[in-house]
Amino acid sequence: MVDILLGLQWGDEGKGKIVDVLAPQYEVVARFQGGPNAGHTLEFDGNKHVLHQIPSGIFRNDCTNIIGNGVVLDPVIFKKEIEGLSNYKIDFAKNLFISKKTAVILPTHRLLDAAYEQDKGDQKIGSTLKGIGPTYSDKVARLGLRLGDLVADNFREKYEKIKAQHIRLLGFYEFEYELEEAEEIFFNAVEFIKKFNLVDSEYTVNEALKAGQKVLAEGAQGSLLDIDFGSYPYVTSSSTTAAGVCAGLGVAPRKIGEVFGIFKAYCTRVGSGPFPTELENEAGEKIRAEGREFGATTGRPRRCGWLDLPALKYTIMLNGVTQLVMMKADVLNIFDEIEVCTHYRLPDGSLTDQMPYDIVDMKVEPVYTTLKGWGDTLTGVRKFENAPQALKDYVAYLEKELEVPIAFVSTGPDREALIMRG
Ligand code: GDP
Ligand code: IMO
Ligand code: MG
Repeated sequence: MVDILLGLQWGDEGKGKIVDVLAPQYEVVARFQGGPNAGHTLEFDGNKHVLHQIPSGIFRNDCTNIIGNGVVLDPVIFKKEIEGLSNYKIDFAKNLFISKKTAVILPTHRLLDAAYEQDKGDQKIGSTLKGIGPTYSDKVARLGLRLGDLVADNFREKYEKIKAQHIRLLGFYEFEYELEEAEEIFFNAVEFIKKFNLVDSEYTVNEALKAGQKVLAEGAQGSLLDIDFGSYPYVTSSSTTAAGVCAGLGVAPRKIGEVFGIFKAYCTRVGSGPFPTELENEAGEKIRAEGREFGATTGRPRRCGWLDLPALKYTIMLNGVTQLVMMKADVLNIFDEIEVCTHYRLPDGSLTDQMPYDIVDMKVEPVYTTLKGWGDTLTGVRKFENAPQALKDYVAYLEKELEVPIAFVSTGPDREALIMRG
């Protein structure tokens, strides 16, 4: 079966850590969407590592890692990532496979991303500027290059054609750019990536399934950044929900098993866009400081706020979540009282626990309930029975509201800092 682990909020829920923890139970870990806009942090044996495009099963020797066709891949960032892993004994020839159908991020895609953002003025999405939107646009417009094109004889011809088109587009914007050096680095990275296993990964995945192996699909971003269901237009350009797995890996819907939905015990968002429970005050700053809430890809401070149940109920529904994973419970140690948003109050005064069509132009006011904080440090707590009563009550409250069991509670960045329930 293919199990899925994906973020239920606006990204950075801690997916990298939990994929790394679960990976020993799987023969295959696969990324199905997104690209180097992701930053997945893993901590173990005193090391901290941030992965952008390489799946988070890469530190497990027995695990095959696949970058699926639904991903957009930047060869330049790929090369840097591989070089950054040189201290670990990783056998990439054995453990890493990349779909030939993966869309390639070109240097001009990054420029277009920046030009479009600049043009948006105060409506900026807050993109990571990795070229994600323009690359997916070209894929859908049937103009883009795929990884398989890089090894074809006519690659240079195809590249020049799309580059010329991008340069025409850039001409519409007042945007200054340099391309020559970026191209040199790109072509160097293209030669580098050719040495890796470029495959038709839909076969790799399905053959693994046929052999009875277990596959874990690793989401990037979060469901509230989904192209269809996120707070459009303040979203990313891919299907970040469970539905994206079938198209992004080439697996049939009936092969999907467990869906792990991961969320922080509070909320964060990086970049622009609506965030109903955002705390633009001291409490928000305390969460940022305690949770070290700074982007793993861009270093930007993350916006922080209380847990949002209407949003969580929405993303649990969209993904068919079967098990929840609650992250960063340790961060809320600092509060005597914790707020949880149960409903939104709409401009006409009515209450809803559903996600309205538009929360960009229509302001919703969060309605909160107050729960007791646990105050206690969670360091070293591995069994739920040893957790502070207030944390047990918080978990019980959420399980009742969300109607899905919380299988894990994470209590720190390290691989070991985890309470596994039942
Ligand atoms: P991802 O994109 O979903 O993989 O998450 P990120 O790596 O961008 O952000 C999660 C951050 O929280 C990283 O710095 C992790 O090391 C850290 N982290 C993960 N789980 C926990 C936890 O339970 N407690 C604390 N304090 N930090 C955590
Ligand atoms: P992981 O996988 C958090 C946000 C950006 C921006 C919007 C669009 O680490 O959880 P894009 O670069 O895709 O055009 O940006 O989406 N964003 C993320 N926020 N975590 C991520 O990935 C993100 N990837 C993109 O900040 O608001
Ligand atoms: Mg991240």
